[in-house]
Formats: sequence, structure tokens, C-alpha cells
Amino acid sequence: METSCHRMHESVLIKEVVDLLVVKQGGIYIDGTVGNGGHTKAIIEKGGPGTFVLGIDRDVSALQRAGKALGDYSGQVNLAHGNYADMVEIAGKKGIKSVDGVLLDLGVSSDQLEDAGRGFSFMKDGPLDMRMNASGNEETAADLVNELPGEELCKILKEFGEERMAGQIARAIVRDREKEIISTTGRLAEIVERVAGGRHGRIHPATRTFQALRIRVNNEIGSLEKGLENGLSLLAPKGRMAVISFHSLEDRIVKKFFARHAGKWESLQAGGCRWIGDKPVMNILTRRPIGPSDEERDVNSRSRSAKLRVAERNGKD
Ligand SMILES: C[S@@+](CC[C@H](N)C(=O)[O-])C[C@H]1O[C@@H](n2cnc3c(N)ncnc32)[C@H](O)[C@@H]1O
Repeated sequence: METSCHRMHESVLIKEVVDLLVVKQGGIYIDGTVGNGGHTKAIIEKGGPGTFVLGIDRDVSALQRAGKALGDYSGQVNLAHGNYADMVEIAGKKGIKSVDGVLLDLGVSSDQLEDAGRGFSFMKDGPLDMRMNASGNEETAADLVNELPGEELCKILKEFGEERMAGQIARAIVRDREKEIISTTGRLAEIVERVAGGRHGRIHPATRTFQALRIRVNNEIGSLEKGLENGLSLLAPKGRMAVISFHSLEDRIVKKFFARHAGKWESLQAGGCRWIGDKPVMNILTRRPIGPSDEERDVNSRSRSAKLRVAERNGKD
């Protein structure tokens, strides 16, 4: 049951996404992070009759929520449990070989964050889990925190959390786990808070540690890199790819991927020119990433760090 303080997930940049992604009526789209189905619904409404969306999510409970939210459009949606990194294979099983658009809205939803039992949030005490695919056999955040050597933990916090106090936090974790295994989000948050000397400012000191562990538990960077390649290979000529990211690490990967495929011709001194970049070729439609309007920032604080980038596959390679 929804309690009054449970924040339902609100899809970010909905209008911006559909305006740039859905330019073909009655097209086929893949929503690789279907979540609660908000973007999928908007894609179907903009694309009109004949539009079809394959919605993928790693989290079975997200698919249940999406199924409910998309009930009215059941004939235009197919939901699949899996990693968007494998979308070529997932789409292939449904007989889809090429699509008009791919959307990735990265990270976790508010519903996942709000569910203490999933262990994503330092604001809610619960088991230190953090797996998006709770039915999978990936290592949990507790496995990593209790078993990895300190140096490895430090590397994760630096690389995926850009945490400046990575070394101190990793050492504190190693010290604390010797007393008793660290099995809850509350205990981990407390350790980080102690290292940081309490809470200062708007951002909780454990934010970056939790982000880093979540990224590592779910191999989010690996999935993103593979998902971008898979998505591009499915795009029909003039098909578009839209990606919403929430931190600089992800945004950099998307930006570089688009830039590499957008490529350019370089003149050679000896005459002629050569292509710099990979094929197939994309046109970048957002030179700078699109962020939320002031209005959206005000009503949905989660949107504040959102960045949307969109690129189109050329008509011919
Ligand atoms: C920010 S939410 C998406 C919300 C959705 N766009 C909406 O409008 O409701 C991100 C979702 O993507 C899922 N997810 C994250 N990484 C994934 C991956 N590699 N493969 C499939 N789903 C993934 C999460 O489980 C979560 O449900």
C-alpha cells in the first residue's frame, strides 16, 4: 500500500524526450529502462495508432508497475525482463530486427529508492542489497563491503562515486567489519557519516558511497557501454537514440559514444581526406545536453541532475 510519504516515481523530461525521439507515427521503439512506464506511455501517445514499444527492465517489480500503468495500451506494448545491454537478443526473440527509436533513462526509480527492502537508500534502513535484479545471483552491496580488500573498495568509491574521502571511508569500512559484518544500509551510512564528521550541507555524506556501490553491484557502466552499441545496431536509418543520465560519469560515456559515431572528415596534407570515428554515422541532435525546465526542477527534485542527449542514425552509412 502507498503510504502518504511514499514518493511515486515521476518520469523526467517527458516532453523533451518525446519531441526529440518520436518523430515517426506508428513506429517501433525500445524503452530499455521501462520502470513505471511513464516514458513508454508518452511515446505511444505521441506516436499514435500502430506505435509499438518493447519495454525492458531488470527489475521484476518495475515490470509489474509498468504492466499496471500501461494496461490501456496492452496491445501496443510488450514487456520483457532483462538487461538493456542485451536488447538485440531480447528484441530478436520478439521478431524485432530494427527500430525507430531507443530510450535509456538510467539509474533507479524513486519507487526502488523508497523500498527499504531493496537497500538502495541511506535514508531508509534495510538490508544492504542494491541489486536491480533482485532475483539474480549477482553479488549484493553487503557482499562487496564485507569481502573486498580495502584498496578495491577505495577504487570503487573513487571511480564510480568520485568520492574525495574514498581512502578514509574504505579504511573505516574495513575496521568496522572486523567487529561485526556490515549488513544494513543504516550501518554503512553511519560509518560514512562518522568519517565525514557529521552532516554538512544539502547532500548526505553517504550519497557518493551509495551511488558507487550501486553502480558496481549492477555493472551499470558495462551495461551502458554495451547498451549503446546494441541500441545503435538496432536503429533503422533516421532512427533516434535518447539517453537520460544522472551523473557525470554516465553523461561522459554517452557524449563520447555519440561523438565517436558522429565522427568527422579530416583533410590530409597529401590531398584527399580520411574519416575520423567509427561507423555507422550518427548526427548529434543535442550539442549540449538538455536539462529540466525551472518548473520541472521545482516539482521534481530528482530531475535536477538529469541530462538528455539525443542522436540520429544517418540515412546511409
Ligand atoms: C529511472 S528508472 C526509469 C523510469 C521510467 N523511464 C519511467 O518513466 O517510469 C530506471 C529503470 O531502469 C531499470 N534499469 C536500470 N539499469 C537497467 C539495465 N541495465 N537493464 C534494464 N533495466 C535497467 C531500473 O530497474 C529502473 O526500473
